[in-house]
Amino acid sequence: MQDIKVGLIGFGTVGQGLAETLHSQENRLTKRTGMKIGIKTIADTRARALPAHLEHIHLTQDARDILADPEIDIVVELIGGMEPAKTFLLEAIAAGKHVVTANKALLAQTGSEIFRKAAEKGVAVGFEASVGGGIPVIKALREGLVANRILAISGIMNGTANYILSRMTDEGIPFAEVLAEAQKLGFAEADPSYDVDGIDTAHKLAILMSMAYGIHITNREISTEGIRNIEPVDIEMAREFGFRIKLLAISRNHGEHVEARVHPTMVPGDKLLASINGAYNAIQFKGDCVGDILLCGLGAGKMPTGSAVAADVVDIARDIACNSVGRVPPLSYQLSQFAPRRI
Ligand code: HSE
Repeated sequence: MQDIKVGLIGFGTVGQGLAETLHSQENRLTKRTGMKIGIKTIADTRARALPAHLEHIHLTQDARDILADPEIDIVVELIGGMEPAKTFLLEAIAAGKHVVTANKALLAQTGSEIFRKAAEKGVAVGFEASVGGGIPVIKALREGLVANRILAISGIMNGTANYILSRMTDEGIPFAEVLAEAQKLGFAEADPSYDVDGIDTAHKLAILMSMAYGIHITNREISTEGIRNIEPVDIEMAREFGFRIKLLAISRNHGEHVEARVHPTMVPGDKLLASINGAYNAIQFKGDCVGDILLCGLGAGKMPTGSAVAADVVDIARDIACNSVGRVPPLSYQLSQFAPRRI
């Protein structure tokens, strides 16, 4: 039986979710893939010990123990932020390893470089967990909607902001208190201003637009406003008129130019989006063949996001088994960065 070895860099919330998923689903994954897929090494500068059921995994504080290990096939980067995450990913790619990341900030800002280097080296980049937490959004776009021209992308793409707005609306809990809860629950970014200022949503929209429209766009080109200034009185006024406030990402493909923005929006109470609460995301695509589709589920958190990372690991493992990684160019923005665009 083929043995696929994974090196995990970063053992925070999502890293733990991945380790739990691969451990608890080991038999199921072996039955479904005919392979043994497991973590060989975890690198985390803060980690001192692993839980008893993961003690068979080698723990190190030095990511280079993974990058320099010729037995490791897939490197998973879950430390987030720009550096050293970018260096680790590029070093893994240069070493001929396939990589998986949930790092939306990195992909939204320098994704084209990472994808180009991976394409040159013939290795895969998995990034399902970068958008929508546990919802298979990237797969839907890359596979299910491959035969469509994508005309629009919209929805709720940040679990923390949605959790905060939902609790403020339904329970009247003050902003700062709910934010602290979201941090404790592991939804929020290391720097929660990314969540509340709409930056994380803009990162995700940039990734989806780049894939869907075949353009190269960064979050800096997306007009972005967060929820920091939403007061209880705004929520009350919205409610009085039959609306709920949601932080939405909205983008339309007009052909010769595209439109993109992130801002708090008054959503009529009878619309489906108004009923998406808590850490849930709801992401809508309009395709020219399929029409509107809506994908909804938990957009943040340890196990949903860990499951999305695991899906990438399994996909790549299957491609390794078929010896097909790198043969088919992924539908992602590395190939389309020269397309003209205007916002
Ligand atoms: N902080 C992010 C969110 C995590 O709340 O949506 C998932 O990308």
